[in-house]
Amino acid sequence: MYRIAVVTVSDKGARGDRVDKSGPVIREMVKSLGEVVDYRVVPDDPEVLKGTLINLSDKEKTDLILTTGGTGLGPRDNTPEATLAVIEREVPGLAEAMRMESMKKTNRAMLSRGVAGVRHLTLIINLPGSVKAVRECLEVIMPALPHGLEIMTGRGGECGIEN
Ligand code: MTE
Repeated sequence: MYRIAVVTVSDKGARGDRVDKSGPVIREMVKSLGEVVDYRVVPDDPEVLKGTLINLSDKEKTDLILTTGGTGLGPRDNTPEATLAVIEREVPGLAEAMRMESMKKTNRAMLSRGVAGVRHLTLIINLPGSVKAVRECLEVIMPALPHGLEIMTGRGGECGIEN
């Protein structure tokens, strides 16, 4: 079982002007992967977000951080840049798969600039902000995450065996 953090990135959510519905959906959907040990709502501030990701990775030693929100084209959408600033290796296939499959549902999927990558022993994945987008995107990548985390953490796993 892995240590998971959920970070909702939203100015309104952080101010208390909007109830976060996407974070709780992620919590529910990742239950089979591990324990959500941290859940935060932070503003769309790149420095705050970078600090949050570094803290959750280096101090809290989470295996997986799922962010939701801030991936679009708005002037305050900074999640991909903050993520790219703290990861060491990109995992483009995760973002590619989410956009590719999501495009079958809405052409607006191409407007998410979300990225994914590894910081030391933590996999960080950006999801778009809406509940619908979170559900659609997580559904796509969930089947591959156990194997990815297994390899990243060195907990074994045979790459040749499909599950
Ligand atoms: N992806 C899926 N699967 N489903 C969606 O409804 N919405 C899109 C896109 N990705 C969507 C999606 C929309 S409308 C936007 S603006 C972008 O994600 C960015 O969303 P964000 O700024 O909330 O992160």
